[in-house]
Amino acid sequence: ATGLLADSLGRPLRDLRISVTDRCNFRCSYCMPKEVFDKDYKYLPHASLLSFEEITRLATQFVAHGVRKIRLTGGEPLLRKNIEILVGQLAALRTVEGTPPELTLTTNGSLLARKAKSLKAAGLQRVTVSLDGLDDAIFRRMNDVDFPVAEVLEGIEAARDAGPGPIKVNMVVKRGTNDDQILPMARHFRGSGIVLRFIEYMDVGATNGWRMDEVMPSAEVRAKIATEFPLVQLDPTVPGETAERWGYADGSGEIGLISSVTQAFCGDCNRARLSTEGKLYLCLFAANGYDLRALLRGGASEADLASAIGHIWQGRSDRYSELRGTLAADPGAPQRRVEMSYIGG
Ligand code: GTP
Ligand code: 5AD
Ligand code: SF4
Ligand code: SF4
Repeated sequence: ATGLLADSLGRPLRDLRISVTDRCNFRCSYCMPKEVFDKDYKYLPHASLLSFEEITRLATQFVAHGVRKIRLTGGEPLLRKNIEILVGQLAALRTVEGTPPELTLTTNGSLLARKAKSLKAAGLQRVTVSLDGLDDAIFRRMNDVDFPVAEVLEGIEAARDAGPGPIKVNMVVKRGTNDDQILPMARHFRGSGIVLRFIEYMDVGATNGWRMDEVMPSAEVRAKIATEFPLVQLDPTVPGETAERWGYADGSGEIGLISSVTQAFCGDCNRARLSTEGKLYLCLFAANGYDLRALLRGGASEADLASAIGHIWQGRSDRYSELRGTLAADPGAPQRRVEMSYIGG
């Protein structure tokens, strides 16, 4: 019964996030801190990565199980050579409803000015660009490789010119680091048609030294913006969305609040993650994945792949963000988690 697949908590499979590389040209401290991801860091060897053919074979079976949205992530997905070829292959898939899947990509924007047109031509429908501030000094400090903010803004413009899909901008808010950028960012993107989303700094991975006092709760972000621009809550676009939508009361667009820490959204989480080397993770915070590459390279048929994915999803009970509080209080709780650059944000 394709399309009727549900996990053990009754959640369907709708969203597939594929990490295409574990490398990135930025060193955001909340994701790939320089001290860990230094010149001696061992990235995956090329032979470990899923090939485009392998990714497309798996994606075909995910789509047959009800996936409607495919997102390419990393690391920085635009660092993967010839990524446009993969985009073209995925754009040719059809959902169980017979329509093309929604195909999108999350990027740091550094290579977007160069690639926006070819990505669009290959079939990419929209992009989400990570941008943590407008102030050049703050932005350079946050990416930690001295990358200028102007080049990311050019990337966003290029993506807008290539059109047609709506662009989103993701800002991770770290208290004491870039919270003074909240209002400048809101002012900049208000009225542009671009949806700016504020993300609570999460305890993902094991290397970013996460502390609760550096998290700025979304309620506080919203209050700050409302001092200048009144906001009204909007209905979700689709069930299981990460972001809560808020519109500017004067009709000049909307913002999103992604509150994984203070207001978990596991209840209808419909997202599966495929790591760079082909492991299926059922949660952003999972310690282990299911090795689909072993099946692919061990001669599995399409039916074998489909049934493996189905069984794994049916056994799913993950809801880490909802349990975070109780786990933190339990010293015996598992600590090792995969890095976001490997599993894909
Ligand atoms: P849209 O389709 O544009 O709504 O994208 P998205 O919000 O699904 O994905 P995006 O890559 O823009 O991620 C935004 C933020 O939400 C990032 O910080 C992600 O790490 C985080 N995020 C995405 N999915 C999940 C999830 O299932 N659980 C948690 N805790 N965080 C998530
Ligand atoms: N907390 C919240 N968001 C994060 N991202 C990366 N690391 C973290 C973290 N620790 C964001 C990136 C990107 C998205 C895919 O995930 O900025 O926008
Ligand atoms: Fe790279 Fe994105 Fe991680 Fe920053 S958050 S280090 S841009 S993958
Ligand atoms: Fe989904 Fe895990 Fe995120 Fe909860 S913490 S929303 S289960 S990925």
